[in-house]
Amino acid sequence: MSTKVPFFEYPRLWSDDREEFLSIIDNVSSSGGFILQKAVSDFELELANYAGSNYAVGVGNATDGMEIFLDAIGVKPGDEIIISSHTMLATASAIKVAGGTPVPVDIGIDNLISPQGIEEAITSNTVGIMPTQLNGRVCNMDAISTIAKKHDLFVVEDAAQALGARYKGQHAGTFGLASCISFYPAKVLGCLGDAGGVLVNDKDLYHKIYQIHDHGRDIDGEVKRWGRNSRLDNLQAAILSHKLKTYNKVIERRREVAQMYQDRLGDLSELQLPPSPSNTSNHFDVYQNYEITADKRDDLKVYLSEKNIGTLIQWGGKGVHQFHQLGFNQKLPKTDKFFERCIMLPMNIFISNEDVDYICEVVKSFYMK
Ligand SMILES: Cc1ncc(COP(=O)(O)O)c(C=O)c1O
Repeated sequence: MSTKVPFFEYPRLWSDDREEFLSIIDNVSSSGGFILQKAVSDFELELANYAGSNYAVGVGNATDGMEIFLDAIGVKPGDEIIISSHTMLATASAIKVAGGTPVPVDIGIDNLISPQGIEEAITSNTVGIMPTQLNGRVCNMDAISTIAKKHDLFVVEDAAQALGARYKGQHAGTFGLASCISFYPAKVLGCLGDAGGVLVNDKDLYHKIYQIHDHGRDIDGEVKRWGRNSRLDNLQAAILSHKLKTYNKVIERRREVAQMYQDRLGDLSELQLPPSPSNTSNHFDVYQNYEITADKRDDLKVYLSEKNIGTLIQWGGKGVHQFHQLGFNQKLPKTDKFFERCIMLPMNIFISNEDVDYICEVVKSFYMK
């Protein structure tokens, strides 16, 4: 049985696929097509097709993607956009950089943005809602869309963690005007550096996003507006195309691991686990993370570490509203409580069934001490 399970083995991203990557790097590099060439347009098409979106634009990273689509939508100073407090600070910072005001709200029982929290936070300055499809699970988009329609708000998605996740059969990233996907190395579809994608259905908005990501130039190269540079580069695009081919298998493996955790830890009353994949519901989850809440969380983390099991507390253990130094002062008790108890167990394709067995045995032994 395994006695060492790192939280995520970054070197294996390279070593497990080294020969293939070397050949991809050689092909792209010897063609001389480094920027905005075929590998990028091919991947954009594949990504859009995979997610069921009309268009995709490759960008430097998901945070840039959010800034760019908010800029394209026309967010202006004073505009408030409601987000979950349980998200990466990037969701908030993208709104800030685009000129708007991020308004974090509490989480619901599913640990995703609370529809009730959204309703309560709406003011005359609210222009949109940006739910985060967290941990590879899509929020209750029926409830969010109903609120958005009722108050005439746009919806955009932080789908950085959720490529392939579905709600009532519809893919994460296709529910609102636009969304971002992150290809950060540890993401379910991760590349060998920073990269991101924007998904968008509307043709005009697509062109605006395209222009902003490439110095204001449209696909024909003509400058149409002010822009910036946040392009996905061809080497990363070619690597992502290669990985997208087996992406569904990766998702299946993650779902298998989630089911194993459920089967082995589901009876422990000290833990709350994410919904299991076998739980037939409106959701198809891709388990970007396996985030649980646990009694005696801090002691559990130390105990697991002593047994050579890596864990992580998401966002360094803070919700967005807890960054008081950035001016947030909301009172969000459910999120506060969550961050006292949350911890992520290893969840990736590098861990074996034996690793999961070992992790679960150690967790159980902690509570039987
Ligand atoms: C929910 C969420 N939003 C945004 C981001 C930012 O993505 P990127 O690092 O590609 O900018 C991440 C990445 O960790 C994320 O998990």
